[in-house]
Amino acid sequence: MTGDLYSWLKALHVISIIAWMAGMLYLPRLFVYHCAAAPGSAQSETFKVMERRLLRAIINPAMTAAWIFGLWMAWLGELWTQPWFIAKFILVLAMSALHGFLSRWRRAFAADANTHSARFYRVMNEVPTLLMIGIVILVIVKPL
Ligand code: HEM
Repeated sequence: MTGDLYSWLKALHVISIIAWMAGMLYLPRLFVYHCAAAPGSAQSETFKVMERRLLRAIINPAMTAAWIFGLWMAWLGELWTQPWFIAKFILVLAMSALHGFLSRWRRAFAADANTHSARFYRVMNEVPTLLMIGIVILVIVKPL
């Protein structure tokens, strides 16, 4: 489907998912380094500020925008029953669930109550990458 509004929505969607993915890939990395900083130390307090600002100023608004522009396009294109869209939607729900966990882990760090290891966050850092690869192939190649 082409046309002015749809193309503008797609451009705004891609801009918002770039910001969302940049944050989803950076925040777990901050958690890896934060694990090495002693609770209450100046370094740990600095990480808390970085994590809070990244989540609230970039990741949360970018995710909201990605959902609004994505659902708007799906509605205009009546894409709900397209197999590639259903598969993409499932991976995007997984990405949004991970977003929820990142928010919860950030709150734990803010309360000096993190219980996970640096290794755990290194593994978690790979999850958005794998989901992103699947999502982009589904929406551009439409293999289903
Ligand atoms: C948040 C919920 C999301 C919804 C409801 C959604 C929905 C959509 C829809 C309906 C389209 C238009 C497809 C077409 O016209 O062929 C689209 C395009 C696109 N989406 Fe999403 N999307 C979401 C999240 C994401 C995420 C997380 C990514 C990447 C990590 C992504 C990557 C893309 C790309 C690259 C395009 C442009 C494809 C093209 O140029 O044809 N989307 N999305």
